[in-house]
Amino acid sequence: MTRRYDLVIAANRLPVDRVVAADGSTSWGRSPGGLVTAMDSVMRGRDGAWVGWAGDPGEAPEPFTEAGMYLRPVPLSEEEVAHYYEGMSNDTLWPIYHDVIVQASFHREWWRAYTTVNRRFAEAAAEVADDGATVWVQDYQLQLVPAMLRELRPDLRIGWFDHIPFPPVELFAQLPWRRPILEGLIGADFLGFQRVADAQNFVRACRQLLRAQTRKDTVTVHRPDGGTHTVRAAAIPISIDFRGLEELARSESVRQRAAELRHQLGDPEVLMLGVDRLDYTKGIRHRLKAYEELLQDGAIAPPQVTLVQVATPSRERVDSYRELRTQIETTVGRINGDHGAIGSPAVHYIHHTQPLEEMAALYLAADVALVTPLRDGMNLVAKEYVTCRWDNGGALVLSEFTGAYHELHQAFVCNPHDVEGLKQTILKAIHTPSKDKARIMRALRRRVADHDVQRWAQRFLDALAAAPGAPQRSARQ
Ligand code: G6P
Repeated sequence: MTRRYDLVIAANRLPVDRVVAADGSTSWGRSPGGLVTAMDSVMRGRDGAWVGWAGDPGEAPEPFTEAGMYLRPVPLSEEEVAHYYEGMSNDTLWPIYHDVIVQASFHREWWRAYTTVNRRFAEAAAEVADDGATVWVQDYQLQLVPAMLRELRPDLRIGWFDHIPFPPVELFAQLPWRRPILEGLIGADFLGFQRVADAQNFVRACRQLLRAQTRKDTVTVHRPDGGTHTVRAAAIPISIDFRGLEELARSESVRQRAAELRHQLGDPEVLMLGVDRLDYTKGIRHRLKAYEELLQDGAIAPPQVTLVQVATPSRERVDSYRELRTQIETTVGRINGDHGAIGSPAVHYIHHTQPLEEMAALYLAADVALVTPLRDGMNLVAKEYVTCRWDNGGALVLSEFTGAYHELHQAFVCNPHDVEGLKQTILKAIHTPSKDKARIMRALRRRVADHDVQRWAQRFLDALAAAPGAPQRSARQ
């Protein structure tokens, strides 16, 4: 019989991905994305369970234990990967929740798969959750799980955290399934968002589209049995493991690697860095355009100035991601053709996942980090960069369309749509005297140190414990 747990995480992905090699052998690697980066460090050492997909289609592996966590894989068939994950999650919800940077597609069979898979996650969580346990559901892929879980297990405390933006009602209203999505979320006791505006967008959507009763940050609905249920929606911005990452960045091996990287890159005066999943929300094209124009203007020139762009592969079978990759690789090729020389390219482009140590060394080596998303729930790269700058060196160029901007507004702030402004901000980040940059960096680091991921998790769990509540009878009964 399965052991049951007091704390259960349900996320689309497990913290580890099963990788099947060409010869059929399998191994485990770290899953991509900010969600896993944050949640993994929260769950390590806690005696909890994590319910999620192992990253490849077909039968799920047997449950196993890793770093004190019980991992319970949920299977997805080939068709479910195409319809629930690539389709509904990443070709319908992702564009709608990110300001429709690319157009969203609506397909009823995707929605059906989304419902089926959400039910499977709810059943798996119900199976491993102890009596009265806390289940913490994650992100846009699992928005129906809270209500489904409440129906299966009314004894549970159910929370949900939105790692991405929650769109304004004018965009959300486009979704043919807007009602069941809101009803799915309302099944929770507490809903956490990255920004105050995201929480407000949710409450407004409930008021306008469900005609639900809303009061400040709560939404109350009537249950079929005559009682009422109230859910609270509030901003609790996510963070990273500041102490763990800083310790890594201070290690001798990372310092040496940072120095070696600068040397390998030709000892530039200014090393600029971009680190992103290869996603159209990240503003990589806008960043490259600004960089290319600065080269054309003669404002900067390799080998004195160079750019390293790490773009980790993502959702590679979705058309908009394929098209983006082609556009970016064409641009990188053109910039290098026009402005590079043998041994000193203008852009060093890496399209594969780098180990964390290598990332820490890159952050420590980079004079300017370019974080230019068009829309981003948080953007943990911004927080990782400042965390690694224990020497108070470096400068962060940060888009005002990230959640991170609301905490790190002392950074060199940009609007990535304004190419001219972005160019000026990059030059300012380069030319501001080191003394002033160090003062800014200290302020940014203090913010992340004080608001790390452990504090975030505790705030979320406290808010969930204190939320208005699991189903209660209304006073009139
Ligand atoms: C973002 C999302 C996560 C997702 C990650 C990686 O951070 O909020 O839910 O896991 O991107 O994307 P992927 O589609 O590879 O899981």
